[in-house]
Amino acid sequence: MTDTRTLTPPATATASAGLSIRDAVMELGDGDTRVRALDGVSLDVAPGEFVAIVGPSGSGKSSLLAVAGALATPDSGQVSIHGQDLGQLSRARRADFRLHTIGFVFQSGNLIPALTAADQLRLVNKLAGGPRSFDPTELLAAVGMAGKAKNRPGQLSGGERQRVGIARALVTRPSVLLVDEPTAALDRARSHEVVGLLAEQSREFGVATVMVTHDHGVLEHCDRVLEMTDGRLTASV
Ligand SMILES: Nc1ncnc2c1ncn2[C@@H]1O[C@H](COP(=O)(O)OP(=O)(O)OP(=O)(O)O)[C@@H](O)[C@H]1O
Ligand SMILES: [Mg+2]
Repeated sequence: MTDTRTLTPPATATASAGLSIRDAVMELGDGDTRVRALDGVSLDVAPGEFVAIVGPSGSGKSSLLAVAGALATPDSGQVSIHGQDLGQLSRARRADFRLHTIGFVFQSGNLIPALTAADQLRLVNKLAGGPRSFDPTELLAAVGMAGKAKNRPGQLSGGERQRVGIARALVTRPSVLLVDEPTAALDRARSHEVVGLLAEQSREFGVATVMVTHDHGVLEHCDRVLEMTDGRLTASV
């Protein structure tokens, strides 16, 4: 089967694969509220690598994900995915690139209440112009949710919603997966299940994954742990 969404590096690509952030600086707010959310952050995440970011509230973790996911543009510095400099893309092309190349998983799963688990995945496939023959079953099975394909979010547990959120983020076979606090609403067993699944899927699909978490109990699943403090990133001890 030909999959038109298979990611081929764009013409302007360099050899670097995965996610690369160079010296990103971003200030937010104005006047008295102005704060340097990112103060010279550099980060490389290789395909298949699973990196965790920990650090205090307000240290800039979500800001880093926003910049990595082309949801925010740094004031200076560079973000590239598969060698494509996001700053070189027009607004429209950046949105398109985001849709096809980047997956997001949020704290609550962020599912659409009226849609079944299968339809959450079908919708993303459709929005991304994926194949008409798309069958969500395989991805739902990969996250252990094939049996709940017809359930709506209100008919799923917190951990199950999170697993559907992960499957949905993988529909476009993204190069980069950005995950903000995926276990905040989950108990210990479910947290391990969800983060273990993220690790497994990152490796299996060769996705460069960055997960922000406060949950030190799940760090064993990650290849690398970095700490964010006052907009700066350091290796965690
Ligand atoms: N729109 C905004 N305007 C002004 N300041 C902002 C804005 N958004 C975030 N900030 C500030 O930027 C800094 C970084 O915020 P960010 O959301 O990245 O932190 P975080 O590490 O994700 O925190 P948390 O763990 O609480 O989610 C904080 O000081 C925050 O108050
Ligand atoms: Mg945050």
